[in-house]
Amino acid sequence: MNLAILGMGTVGCGVMEVLSMNREKITGLIGEEITVSHVFVSNVDKERGVDLGEAIVTDDIDSLLNSDEIDAVIEVMGGMETTRDVLRKFLEKGIHVISANKDMLAKYIDELALVAENNGASLLYEASIAGGIPIVNAIEHGLNANRIHKVMGILNGTTNYILSKMTKDGWDYARALDEAKEKGYAEADPTNDVDGIDAKRKIVLLSRLAYGLKVDIDEVPVAGIRDVSLKDIENAMTAGFKLKLVGKSEFDGAGMSIEVAPVLLPDDHQLSSVEYEKNAVYVMGNAVGETMFYGPGAGGPETASAVVSDLINCMRNRGVAQRSARPEQSAHIKVSNVESG
Ligand code: HSE
Repeated sequence: MNLAILGMGTVGCGVMEVLSMNREKITGLIGEEITVSHVFVSNVDKERGVDLGEAIVTDDIDSLLNSDEIDAVIEVMGGMETTRDVLRKFLEKGIHVISANKDMLAKYIDELALVAENNGASLLYEASIAGGIPIVNAIEHGLNANRIHKVMGILNGTTNYILSKMTKDGWDYARALDEAKEKGYAEADPTNDVDGIDAKRKIVLLSRLAYGLKVDIDEVPVAGIRDVSLKDIENAMTAGFKLKLVGKSEFDGAGMSIEVAPVLLPDDHQLSSVEYEKNAVYVMGNAVGETMFYGPGAGGPETASAVVSDLINCMRNRGVAQRSARPEQSAHIKVSNVESG
């Protein structure tokens, strides 16, 4: 089967690494070899330090859209409307799409899911929420016998890394942010991490999935960690708390509350021990009760673990699109008192 990869940054290179290191197992699961036939990048001359094999490397997206050889597309390039339009065209051709693009999906998933459904294609997005944690599969499949009424999580590796470095190692905010950028956790524009926007996109996608409702991202209040000082952290520690950026939503069957904000968690809270770039998602279902999912929230091979898992699940059922929940109704979001910003 032929695979096209759009974007060859941290996650794209991670995908190449995972496909190579686990080639035999993945081939066995799918029943045939995966060939990365096309790679779309904006700069074809850039040295990426990864073996792209026989792939055609191009900056011409039309050559991919016009190709009849591609069976599935992995989108790890980011971008908003242009990327949505490109993915829509692949889906219209019935080509399966796997995307890690939470920015675009948080806004456009409902329309793309409809295009996928109408064209017998899969639209899978495990890697867009909480990096390597298989939380989409957990909610969509593992917990589908439940009515879910609460989802809460540490959903951004960069801010958790910064807060952990400040708390555990006494680093200042700027140094910790620089290190998070260097390690490849932060977004191209880290404003989206530190201001809580990235976590907001993820709690929107999670809540849509958990409650089966469309969620308008523009209605979700958010506050980030930009103004957190070492003094704030010390005061929290002295009082027996940890400061964490938490995304949270609850649904009572009628209205939904949803927000992202820095919160003080007691030291013995389940989310307090989630440190550095790790993420965790707590999900409460009416049959199972409390569940907690923990793992790496960012990083190349870590996030690629989720991307390639989508690819395997999609190609294992070749010809049969993986149906993902597609809500018809919109959430009624209750007003919260978190400051927007
Ligand atoms: N910038 C994101 C984070 C990457 O720090 O969690 C993974 O979505």
